[in-house]
Amino acid sequence: MKIIRILLFLFALPMFSQQGGMWIPSLLEGMNEGEMQTLGMQMSAEDIYSVNQSSLKDAVPHFNGGCTSEVISPKGLLLTNHHCGYGQIQSHSSVENDYLADGFWAKNLSDELANPGMTVTFIVEIKDVTTQVLKNTENASSEEEKQQMIAQNKQSVIASSPKEEWQTNRISTFYDGNQFMLFKVETFKDIRLVGAPPSSIGKFGSDTDNWMWPRHTGDFSLFRIYADKNNRPAEYSENNVPYTPKHYLPVSLDGVAEDDFTLVFGFPGTTDEYLPAVAVEQLVETINPARIGLREVALKEQDAFMRKDQQIKIQYASKYARIANYYKKWIGESQGLKKTDAVGIKRNQEKQFTQRVKAKDLEKEYGSLLTDFDNAYAEFEDYNLAYNLFSEAFIRNVELLKNGFQLYQLEQVLEARGEQSFNDRKANILEDFKASYKDYSAQVDEKVFEKVIEFYAQNTPKEFLSQEFIKKDKSQLTKEIYNNSALTTYSKLEELLEGSSEEVVEKLNKDEGYQLVKELSKEFFENVLPNYRSKKLEIDALQKTYMKALLELSPKEARLFPNANGTLRVTYGQVKGYSPKDAVRYKPVSYLEGVREKYVPGDYEFDVPQKLLDLIDNKDYGQYAENGKMPVNFIGTNHTTGGNSGSPVIDAQGNLIGLNFDRVWEGTMSDIYYDPSISRNIMVDARYILFIIDKYAGATHLIDEMKLVHPKQQNSSDKKKKKRKRKSKKRK
Ligand code: ARG
Ligand code: ASP
Repeated sequence: MKIIRILLFLFALPMFSQQGGMWIPSLLEGMNEGEMQTLGMQMSAEDIYSVNQSSLKDAVPHFNGGCTSEVISPKGLLLTNHHCGYGQIQSHSSVENDYLADGFWAKNLSDELANPGMTVTFIVEIKDVTTQVLKNTENASSEEEKQQMIAQNKQSVIASSPKEEWQTNRISTFYDGNQFMLFKVETFKDIRLVGAPPSSIGKFGSDTDNWMWPRHTGDFSLFRIYADKNNRPAEYSENNVPYTPKHYLPVSLDGVAEDDFTLVFGFPGTTDEYLPAVAVEQLVETINPARIGLREVALKEQDAFMRKDQQIKIQYASKYARIANYYKKWIGESQGLKKTDAVGIKRNQEKQFTQRVKAKDLEKEYGSLLTDFDNAYAEFEDYNLAYNLFSEAFIRNVELLKNGFQLYQLEQVLEARGEQSFNDRKANILEDFKASYKDYSAQVDEKVFEKVIEFYAQNTPKEFLSQEFIKKDKSQLTKEIYNNSALTTYSKLEELLEGSSEEVVEKLNKDEGYQLVKELSKEFFENVLPNYRSKKLEIDALQKTYMKALLELSPKEARLFPNANGTLRVTYGQVKGYSPKDAVRYKPVSYLEGVREKYVPGDYEFDVPQKLLDLIDNKDYGQYAENGKMPVNFIGTNHTTGGNSGSPVIDAQGNLIGLNFDRVWEGTMSDIYYDPSISRNIMVDARYILFIIDKYAGATHLIDEMKLVHPKQQNSSDKKKKKRKRKSKKRK
């Protein structure tokens, strides 16, 4: 038996190291299950996902739509990343009570802090509904009509699928429209903040270390799910009680060693693994440089203010981190794609694809796909560039433009849908503004505006902008707007939005800030968006056919997993180091000594709390150390992406061994092209989390809630027992 296992393992290894993959949890039986077991997993597919009994999936909810989290106690205690709970931690913070800087630990249930609007969502059941969703669509006369039929079919499947009153049905699209899955979900709405380390632990290394290995970040925070008396989802209420989960993860004290099996369970957001070469080329040559460039000028201005002003630092911490995060990711992604020659590799794969199409006599169906892609992407390029620059400037980086754009849409609502819709939307916007202007600094935004608007004018293809705007003196323009526009303070905006729709629109159109937003938005809506959309639709249709062809024509070993789409997935691999460049080899585990090494007293990114320094100096690690050293982070070959943050890292038997939070710089191109030699995910060691909760924060009541286990010790004592049994049998 053992020999067969080893043979299987050796046989599977080269195949395994060919690829990553993010798998649908309800479809693991067979190939994935076998491979996972070969890699050391001792569970079955049914232990991971089951509709008939509680399984791992019942402990892994989607965290507020963007991250992943896991239940780690019978009382609904929820673990996720510090950077996932960041917005909540920030929202409870002020200069006097700065939980970002100092951390926060609720001493008991009544100290836990409510977060209105926040949700976590559990997956109850997953079902393939492709046949129903695609019903009759082969008769559609155009792509538009087909999409409409699909939308209608989806609606009727959602409406007719059984569910409990407190549950929701939704459908997600897989393989670019070749497969559809129905998800029955349960969303909890009373989620309270329980604990967070100071940023000097939870965000140690900040943006300098972000996307990097070696890493030493305690990127975790704790929440709790509350439910009504029947253990069902409910809006916030004082009478709610801690949720009793169907399953929670025991936490392992035994840690990891290189080559250990790891399973990461979570909600990866988006990947594009099956793009044609021409699309990857456009991303690397045109799109990434534009969005990196625009963010760079915005970040530089914000950073300068944040470094010298504590209040601005708090106000902008979350916004800055969000912008900086993908700014840095795109740089790594482009470098990685270039270094691995992903475009060249894709071109080669496309040659093979063409040969297969010929061999199977499918040229009529698929023979023109690749040239169609080439043409479509060539026509798409300028629109794509303009679209990205507009959304970076008007949706992400400049607050005045962002708010102005919301008001522009408000004016559109009046034209399209009348007074009532206008007033509803206005109320929503005002509420939004009330929250966002709390963290607004006109001084910071003015600088950002000036630089970004200049960049926008320089880099948007000229044919989409008016000569007048291109030629305008941007620093003069900036001064005028920030001196005169009501968009720079909440109170003026409130005034501006007072009155009937007619009055509001009149006032708006006299505002200089609004005038600019309107002019540029109009240009965008007239010159860019319609063509962007129609080209995109064409490309999506090609991509869908290409995906279908790949599924039909790829050899079985290619194992095409569906791109990430925000649905629950399983990815697995092993703890493993890597070689980032010639002559350098990274080990897979980092230790607290490394925090000491990186320590820069008083620094914005690398300061360390005195208490932690003391614990390090006294090696006061309690039961959490490994041979006298305290592990902090580790890396592995699990294929993850944005959205996997906060995902549990699970050992061979279903215990929590870590918390996913990042990827390594050299491998961030894994969203487009996964290279098993350098793509690694980064995780916090579960023991470091326990150590911080227990030894640093003294929150032992939280540790007491959890179930701490020793699976490796258990395993080896089981083996010894078996051996003894066998020996005693022989003797008999
Ligand atoms: N890079 C990680 C992810 O994409 C973590 C980001 C949070 N940390 C930061 N310094 N911005 O979300
Ligand atoms: N840090 C990412 C997240 O927030 C994870 C990743 O991109 O690897 O989901």
